[in-house]
Amino acid sequence: MHFLAAAAVLLGVASFASAAPTPPRLGRHKGLPDGMPNPSPSELEQIQLRAHGALPNTPPPPSISNEGITNLKLIAFNELFEVAFFSELIANISKNVEGYRFSSADGRDFVLEALQAILAQEELHAISANNGLVHFNVKPIEPCQYRFPVHNFDSAIVLASTFTDLVLGTLQDVVERFAIGRDFDLAREIASVIGQEGEQQGWYRVMQGKIPSELPFLTTSDLNFAFTAIQSFTVPGSCPSLDEIPLRTFEPLNITAPPGPHTQNIRFSFGDPNHEADHQLWLTYINQLNLPIVEPLRVVTRKGDTVIAEALFPYEEHEMNGLTIAAVTRTKGPFGNAYTVAKWTLAGPGLIIVN
Ligand SMILES: *[C@@H]1O[C@H](CO)[C@@H](O)[C@H](O)[C@H]1NC(C)=O
Ligand SMILES: *[C@@H]1O[C@H](CO)[C@@H](O)[C@H](O)[C@H]1NC(C)=O
Repeated sequence: MHFLAAAAVLLGVASFASAAPTPPRLGRHKGLPDGMPNPSPSELEQIQLRAHGALPNTPPPPSISNEGITNLKLIAFNELFEVAFFSELIANISKNVEGYRFSSADGRDFVLEALQAILAQEELHAISANNGLVHFNVKPIEPCQYRFPVHNFDSAIVLASTFTDLVLGTLQDVVERFAIGRDFDLAREIASVIGQEGEQQGWYRVMQGKIPSELPFLTTSDLNFAFTAIQSFTVPGSCPSLDEIPLRTFEPLNITAPPGPHTQNIRFSFGDPNHEADHQLWLTYINQLNLPIVEPLRVVTRKGDTVIAEALFPYEEHEMNGLTIAAVTRTKGPFGNAYTVAKWTLAGPGLIIVN
């Protein structure tokens, strides 16, 4: 279940398509389809056909805030990961890999048709974010080598649903950072993409036998959690652009036994190379748009740099449905928002989805 320990993130954005200069040709990437991240004009045309739509051709804003640049970098970093994931998933289904076979041809055709559109739409999100960076004279983000902890269709959909949930929370942070930086044109484009991701998520949920709409107000997140989560799907040392993204990478946090819809203790493991667990630590939960919930953490055992611990998951008191982001924090707060949780985080995000 380690996909619950970290899932990935962000989604595409900015437009700039027509006005932006063509990104420098970084060359093709052997793991990615359609000439990504730098498709030729004819490849781009094919991507747009499969995406059922085009890159925005409204003019880009004349300037951008520094936080806005970080937003675009994280979005490109995330979108390239998603492109790798969906392209591998389509390949597994197309090649009838064990675990990816369908009993009905109709079901298989529909799933492939839907996933082809999602892949192309994610490709345009990635291209759009990188075009935005190039427009502002910033080096575009290059893809990594990726590996995914799934070996059948059902677990691939659970993973897609988990990282899409984290994206839906992280894009809230992206919009807020654009707003703070007065990057209002870009804020509008993110709003367009958030709806798009929500459409995908409704379908992933229905495939798991869940109702399509998860919560009245989707759980929020912080860019730094997304940045760490994406890295759990990359081969260490394979990301050429990692040092250009000014975000923090936390220690890993794995929820070893995910909770159900009731109050219970949960067990988890986390990286603690500096033995910070020799002092009191807390497990802090972000759920919906509510104040973060803080529970004391009890160390069960330590093995080298990894600590196994327990904490209460107070489902009933707080109606913790949908996505919950867990983080091992160095203080008990009180925390006013996801940003301050991230600021005091040692390990995370641990991703829990109930109902
Ligand atoms: C595709 O199948 C291979 C072989 O089972 C597996 O290792 C990989 O994680 C799968 N990828 C996806 C995205 O389902
Ligand atoms: C989390 O799970 C992954 C995959 O099972 C494992 O490689 C990693 O060592 C675990 N990390 C911690 C801190 O438990």
